[in-house]
Amino acid sequence: MATPQDPVSGDRLSVSVADLPAGGTYPWLTATVVPRPIAWVSTLDADGLLNLAPHSFFTVASAEPPIVAFTSVGTKDTLSNIRATGEFVVNLTPRRLADQVNVTGTNFPPGVDELAEAGLTAQPSDVVAPPRVAESPVAIECVSEGERNFGRSTMVFGRVVHLSVWASVLAPDGLPDVRLLDPVSRLGREEWGALGEVFSLVRPRYHSPT
Ligand SMILES: Cc1cc2nc3c(=O)[nH]c(=O)nc-3n(C[C@H](O)[C@H](O)[C@H](O)COP(=O)(O)O)c2cc1C
Repeated sequence: MATPQDPVSGDRLSVSVADLPAGGTYPWLTATVVPRPIAWVSTLDADGLLNLAPHSFFTVASAEPPIVAFTSVGTKDTLSNIRATGEFVVNLTPRRLADQVNVTGTNFPPGVDELAEAGLTAQPSDVVAPPRVAESPVAIECVSEGERNFGRSTMVFGRVVHLSVWASVLAPDGLPDVRLLDPVSRLGREEWGALGEVFSLVRPRYHSPT
């Protein structure tokens, strides 16, 4: 395995985006912006058919109001359903469900129930219409806050209206314990990541000299 080079004197590869072929930046970004958490997005289409698909271009977009965002590369069923119904659920993906997450990333035609394909169970959500994944310990229920388009990619914003969390993954302080969530993440290529070392740091505060 390659070891990291000396940070100051080591050689660097200079990658000019303008010189890369169309789409050539994508594998660089997915191999460098790592690890990425996975939003396992459940939606309903206009006829009430359930859809589930993983999206690793996923983050918190706003603290207050609470908004999460994920990006659809191309117009997929998930995006079409949110445009049609305005609601979605982000289910978190524990390591033990990695194979099922992968199955739901198959390019099934519209109308295929990915939960059934992956052997998962739909469970009614508390506030929004799309069901959550019963096997997932956290469901973030969202109402669409619109989208931002970049070429073929669409970033979808969702206002968080409800959280549903297994009591068994909570730490004594009442928040989820990351070791109990045991999230699986996406890396570059075909690589996935599991939780590694967890450590705590107290953020320093600057105090101006009096
Ligand atoms: C772990 C994982 C992460 C993925 N992340 C994304 C993503 O961020 N954006 C995207 O458009 N597709 C992503 N995909 C591919 C979609 O899940 C795939 O195209 C899926 O078929 C879309 O389903 P849908 O048409 O039901 O929405 C990912 C696939 C996997 C397995």
